[in-house]
Amino acid sequence: MDLVIKNGTVVTATESYRADIGVDGGTIALIGRDLSGAEVIDAAGMLVMPGGVDPHTHMELPFMGSISADDFRTGTIAAACGGTTTIIDFAIQGAGQTLRQALDIWLKKAEGKACIDYGMHVAIGAMDDERMAEMGDMVEFGVPSFKVFMAYKGSFMVDDETLFRSLIRAKEIGGLIAVHAENGDILHYLINKHVAEGKKEPIWHARSHPAEAEAEATHRAVVMAGMTGAPLYVVHMTAGDALEALKAGRAKGFKVFGETCPQYLMFSVEKYAEPGFEGAKYVMSPPLREKGDSEALWRGLAGGDLQAVGTDHCPFNFVGQKDMGKDDFSKIPNGMPSVETRLPLLYHFGVGQGRFSVNRFVELVATGPARLFGLLPRKGTISVGADADLVLWDPKREHRLTKENLHMNVDYSPYEDVTVRGYPALTLQRGKVIVRNNQFVGDVGAGQFLKRSPIHL
Ligand code: URP
Ligand code: ZN
Ligand code: ZN
Repeated sequence: MDLVIKNGTVVTATESYRADIGVDGGTIALIGRDLSGAEVIDAAGMLVMPGGVDPHTHMELPFMGSISADDFRTGTIAAACGGTTTIIDFAIQGAGQTLRQALDIWLKKAEGKACIDYGMHVAIGAMDDERMAEMGDMVEFGVPSFKVFMAYKGSFMVDDETLFRSLIRAKEIGGLIAVHAENGDILHYLINKHVAEGKKEPIWHARSHPAEAEAEATHRAVVMAGMTGAPLYVVHMTAGDALEALKAGRAKGFKVFGETCPQYLMFSVEKYAEPGFEGAKYVMSPPLREKGDSEALWRGLAGGDLQAVGTDHCPFNFVGQKDMGKDDFSKIPNGMPSVETRLPLLYHFGVGQGRFSVNRFVELVATGPARLFGLLPRKGTISVGADADLVLWDPKREHRLTKENLHMNVDYSPYEDVTVRGYPALTLQRGKVIVRNNQFVGDVGAGQFLKRSPIHL
């Protein structure tokens, strides 16, 4: 074997056990005791886990008059440093574009730059008969998941018929529809009303995006999933009431799944009231909610009502981007840096604080997303035949999540004061070490496009 990782504790979504892992040709060839190989890495004291799978990133996204600050190079280096070895980004169908044209634009952004493996979803802007047919071509090409925005009226938002048609088609072809569930008409009305009344500070972003509008849209999407029999994945869930809508759908046997993101677990709406314009750092959609909502999300993760943690990584610099909205919250580009800190935060605050087991952690950040999005068993787990995408996780390593200690290409860290215990010591992609001690040592552009399988959940 090319490589053996010895003496570690292998952690999967279902088990933890002492074993060596043998890697040959970039895949896991053997799991057992006393293995030998050309190169040996000693993992004594380490947890050996599958690399994280982040199903929700936005690298180099043109959005709200700006472009998200990480491209596929900087964003994937940051991801790897935080223990993530696969991302799935979103190609967005622009006006007059075919799905294939949108996909090609995003594939070009990633090619030669991505430092970890990546898949793509396609976000649907229009759903005429031709596009319905084209969804099948996307699945055949290895892009079986589609995003539908129920919010951002005037840009990404589509109507209910488009969502409904997308679900019908997805069911036929082995596709999965991911939704941004907020009632875009209500948000549009409230944003305009508040701006017209001179209520323009960052807190009014939250007041223009009420939790009821998320719960209503989640319920609507869940009902449509039930009517069509199609699977549905609700991205970046933030509110306890929205989670109840998802749970109600699952109780009826609908194939509906939910994701939340670390920022909604870590922060609450008070952040928008920070002095000066600091609140802009946390302006994203949906917005931060009440502390009770975060608690409901933690319970959802632990108890199984939520199935995945993504990041919705969409960073904008405080100076030069967020400050476009210093006199008007509606002009603050929506989004936050998150791709690097997902695993450390979930491990520290989830496993470290006793909210769930290390196996549930692996399920939420790797195996669950891989299963939902057609990547299992190649990604997201440790088994013979899987890609040797591995993180040697040092459970004792302390790391302060200050900007200087992170790699995301943005001028602030939302977690300046947070020190986590548990951090990657090494990250490997297909058997090659790409991060050692918080330094990227891989090759720029070595990330491969992942053609994913049709999704039948
Ligand atoms: O505020 C956010 N979430 N920005 C990224 C776009 C989206 O809604 O996912
Ligand atoms: Zn969204
Ligand atoms: Zn997003």
